[in-house]
Amino acid sequence: MGSNSDEIITENMDAPTYAPSLPVPNVQEMILVIDLSLLSTGDVEELNKLDLACKEWGFFQVVNHGVAKEVLQNMKDAAAEFFALPLEKRKKYKVASNDIQGYGQAYVVSEDQILDWSDALMLIVYPSHYRKLNFLPRTPTGFKEIIESFSNGVKEVGEELLRSFSRIMGMDKDALLGLHKQGAQGMRVNYYPTCSRPDLVLGLSPHSDASTITILMQEDDTEGLQIKHNDEWVPVKPVQDALVVNVGDVIEIWSNGKYKSIEHRAVTNQKKARISYASFIVTHDDVEIEPLDHQVGSQKVMYQKVR
Ligand code: SIN
Ligand code: FE2
Repeated sequence: MGSNSDEIITENMDAPTYAPSLPVPNVQEMILVIDLSLLSTGDVEELNKLDLACKEWGFFQVVNHGVAKEVLQNMKDAAAEFFALPLEKRKKYKVASNDIQGYGQAYVVSEDQILDWSDALMLIVYPSHYRKLNFLPRTPTGFKEIIESFSNGVKEVGEELLRSFSRIMGMDKDALLGLHKQGAQGMRVNYYPTCSRPDLVLGLSPHSDASTITILMQEDDTEGLQIKHNDEWVPVKPVQDALVVNVGDVIEIWSNGKYKSIEHRAVTNQKKARISYASFIVTHDDVEIEPLDHQVGSQKVMYQKVR
């Protein structure tokens, strides 16, 4: 896990049990692109690819994910319109200091820190009774419905992925879904304005996600996301209409460290503002976050309780 986590690793690491048939890519190669329509049929080659991606990279991209192009585009258009509003209008949705929903900045922990070059709209979308409707922007018109259909599409992708994760973790295909029945889906729309000195400031500081998995839509024409791989920052190059998925801390712990919750960050650029859309799939608070017994073998990785 990344810098924000409290991981303590002891003892020897287990040898992987799910042997991939594919070669390990090197840094020059793209992050693996996985076909969700094949995954959902239980296609062994695609499941092997998922296993490999999660062990080696902690990140992959999904295509044929079933979320309509129009739903993705509507979300992009509406968010662009929202972030183009004058600050006074955006501030109507300002996040309260004791809350997590609304318009503001992510990862602000101290008044002395250097702030990231971004702001964000943060919402809990599922379960719907968690939504704070007064923080759902009323501009542009229909934003609420657009967020609803985008989030619903992402939710279905998340469910399909949880089935596949259950499979590659050697469980019944509905096992992980069961642990998310009472779970939640949060969303953070990140806005990175152009920056005259991208060498001096980050769009989003390095972190790992505390989620089970995160599903991210990024723009097709503007890079920004980078992931830590073999001690280097590797850009996740946009693939047209794909969704980027990363293993969160919870999958890393459940899998006893076999699948990695990788540190990532966002950089800015001088030419074009960028917006990204992160959806966090999380379990209910009561769910135990510990290495699953059958994933442990003789070499258990010790994690401090995350809850
Ligand atoms: C994130 O980690 O939430 C977003 C990274 C990005 O903007 O691509
Ligand atoms: Fe993240």
